[in-house]
Amino acid sequence: MTPPVNRYETTEAWRAVDDYFCDRLVFEDEALKVARESGARTTMPNAEVAPNQGAFLALLAKIAGARRILEFGTLAGYSTIWFARAVGPSGLVVTFELEQQNAEVARRNFERAGVSAQIDLQVGLAAELADRLVASQPAPFDLVFIDADKPNNPAYLAASLNLTSPGAVIVIDNVVRDGAVVETDSGDARVDGVRAVTEQIAEHPDLEAMALQTVGVKGWDGLIIARRK
Ligand code: DHB
Ligand code: MG
Repeated sequence: MTPPVNRYETTEAWRAVDDYFCDRLVFEDEALKVARESGARTTMPNAEVAPNQGAFLALLAKIAGARRILEFGTLAGYSTIWFARAVGPSGLVVTFELEQQNAEVARRNFERAGVSAQIDLQVGLAAELADRLVASQPAPFDLVFIDADKPNNPAYLAASLNLTSPGAVIVIDNVVRDGAVVETDSGDARVDGVRAVTEQIAEHPDLEAMALQTVGVKGWDGLIIARRK
């Protein structure tokens, strides 16, 4: 077992720094703000990315020149809106959501943000939706954001490899989990899902990747950023 981390001495400082940089660098219009706050009406309140993380994902999509993005886990569609704006009116974001309740919240958010035309929201089991998408032989996706049920991370990465080409970027959310990622005996299937997908990436000859730890309003967590060679 790894020693517990005292989070309570630090979260206030992390929050103040997030507030400072968000105030200076991250512009959230009313539609994004409402979408973020509507996370409270989903089945997983507070699981959406933070404003600076949404801005980070949008910057990454733009740096990668992404036109087609695939997202596992829509929730209220907060990150989806950031992506839709990054790809622009001629781009596409396909996003998978399990819960009808969340999908309804997300649809209203897409309308309010004016991005419905760029978004294909599909409701159901992401693994099945991904299989169906693979079978339809779509044009390759430039960027994939895996942010759904963590135990299925390995299945979502496998599907992503069938839906992308060399140069594609694959981002996986919530891979640090308050440091629990280093525990081999956490008894938490979400941690096991992160560790399994990390091994999958480590052993895949066509993937290069790193993991970035993050602190801030969402506590201590992080992202894996992978690229297909
Ligand atoms: C969890 C999932 C998320 O996507 C997130 O951003 C935060 C937490 C979770 O499964 O606990
Ligand atoms: Mg997440």
